[in-house]
Amino acid sequence: MNRNKIVAGNWKMNLAKNDAIKLTEDLVSDSIPEGVKVILAPSFVHLDRVGKLLEGQSSISLAAQNVHAAEKGAYTGEISVDMIKSYGCSYALVGHSERRAYFNESHELLAQKIDALLKNGLSAIFCVGEPLEIRKDGSYKEYVSQQINDSLFHLDASQLDAIILAYEPIWAIGTGETASPEQAQEMHQHIREMISEKYGEAKAEALHILYGGSVKPANATDLFSQADVDGGLVGGASLKAEDFKSIIHYK
Ligand code: PGA
Repeated sequence: MNRNKIVAGNWKMNLAKNDAIKLTEDLVSDSIPEGVKVILAPSFVHLDRVGKLLEGQSSISLAAQNVHAAEKGAYTGEISVDMIKSYGCSYALVGHSERRAYFNESHELLAQKIDALLKNGLSAIFCVGEPLEIRKDGSYKEYVSQQINDSLFHLDASQLDAIILAYEPIWAIGTGETASPEQAQEMHQHIREMISEKYGEAKAEALHILYGGSVKPANATDLFSQADVDGGLVGGASLKAEDFKSIIHYK
């Protein structure tokens, strides 16, 4: 199956207004290669401005970094699916390891967030990945299987079309240490097999599985050329226009 590549930039809690605008303008003025789709996930406060700069072009889409599971109500400081949708988001990240770790987001809550997104016609970029001790003790496939099982497997096959998976080993996030292309491929293949067993081969073949964790210009080509690696979720290197552009032009 010939899946296109997706290169998503997760800006996390970085960039003040002018820098966010400058970076977006820089990316919009560049050409996006055929077969590559770019997604930008700026902070909530930048969604309006970044979204406006993306208007009128089709290769860069907008994502929120998080969303609340409830439709609306008394949740001071939180942001709903309806709100991000009204600013042009087609995606939200769900289950990033930083949210799991620092905000105690459970498998069950992540399942609810996915449901809220899908109900409103948005897609979820669902992140999974194991910590270093699990990588070391060898149970990393079981660990990731559990994450997928508990937050995703309540969906029916038709809903899977609105899911992008991102495998982000925690030991490789922001550390400069990247999973080797072989380590990434091993996990991505495992995930695709799991999806195939549950939802059938066609759904598994259509699913995009991104790799995240210190993706940079120097390793993007090797990672993205693995059979089951369909692009990347990029943190640090997405903040620098030149680096992000060269990842987008990884070939
Ligand atoms: P990194 O972050 O590229 O800075 O390692 C990736 C992520 O957390 O999505």
